[in-house]
Amino acid sequence: MNVMAIIGSPRKGGNTELLVDRVIEGCRSRGDAHIVKVFIADRNIQYCSGCLTCTFPPPGTGKCVLRDDMDVLIEKIRESDAFIFGTPNHMRTVSAPLLNFLARMLPLLRYEIEYDDKGNMIGATGVSKIQDKKAAMVISQGDPFFSSPLVHMVLERNLRDFRLKLVGDVISMGNLQKQDVAGKAEDLKAAFELGVKMVTWSGF
Ligand SMILES: Cc1cc2nc3c(=O)[nH]c(=O)nc-3n(C[C@H](O)[C@H](O)[C@H](O)COP(=O)(O)O)c2cc1C
Repeated sequence: MNVMAIIGSPRKGGNTELLVDRVIEGCRSRGDAHIVKVFIADRNIQYCSGCLTCTFPPPGTGKCVLRDDMDVLIEKIRESDAFIFGTPNHMRTVSAPLLNFLARMLPLLRYEIEYDDKGNMIGATGVSKIQDKKAAMVISQGDPFFSSPLVHMVLERNLRDFRLKLVGDVISMGNLQKQDVAGKAEDLKAAFELGVKMVTWSGF
C-alpha cells in the first residue's frame, strides 16, 4: 500500500509530526506499506489564485495554472492508496499550509452542474478523481479540552468532498510545547492503532 503522509505543521519535529510518525509505524507494523512523508511548509506551494480554471466551466482544465511543487505532489496523490493528514489547530482551524494544500487539490475534483431551463445553476455535484482512497486525520492542539470542533469539521468535510474513505482520527490535546505529545502514551497508542487500521481495514 502506498501511503502519503501530509504534515500540515510548520513546526518540524513537533506534536503533529510525532503523531503522524506513530501512525506511520502502525502502517509499517502490518506488511510493507510504502510511505511518502511530505512536510508541506518546506515545499514551494503557491497560494491558490482562486481563478477556478481547473474546474470551471466544467469539466475545467483539470490542471492548476501555477507551476510549482504541487505538480509533483498531485502525481504523488494520484499514485497513493491512502493518506494521513496531520494538522495543528491554528486559530481554531487547520493550519494555513494545509488549508492552501487542500485548495490546491481542487484540480482533483470535477463538477457536474445542473441548470434550469433558464440557464440558472440549480445544483453542483463534485466528482472526485481520487475517490475511495483511504484517509486518516491527526490533529494536535494546545487547549486541554475539545475547544475547536471547526478544525475537525474543516478537515473531515474536505476529505469527504474528495470522496475519501475516512479510516479514523486522533485528536491530541494540551500540546503547547513542541513535543508535549511525547508524554501522552494513550494518544501515541491511538495513533499507532490508527496506522494499523489504515492498512488492515477493508473500507466498508
Ligand atoms: C498561530 C497559532 C495558533 C494556535 N491556535 C490555537 C487554537 O486556536 N487552539 C488551540 O487549542 N491551540 C492553538 N495553538 C496551539 C497549537 O495547536 C499546538 O501547540 C499544537 O500542538 C501545535 O502542533 P505542532 O507542535 O505540530 O506545531 C496555536 C498555535 C499557533 C502557533
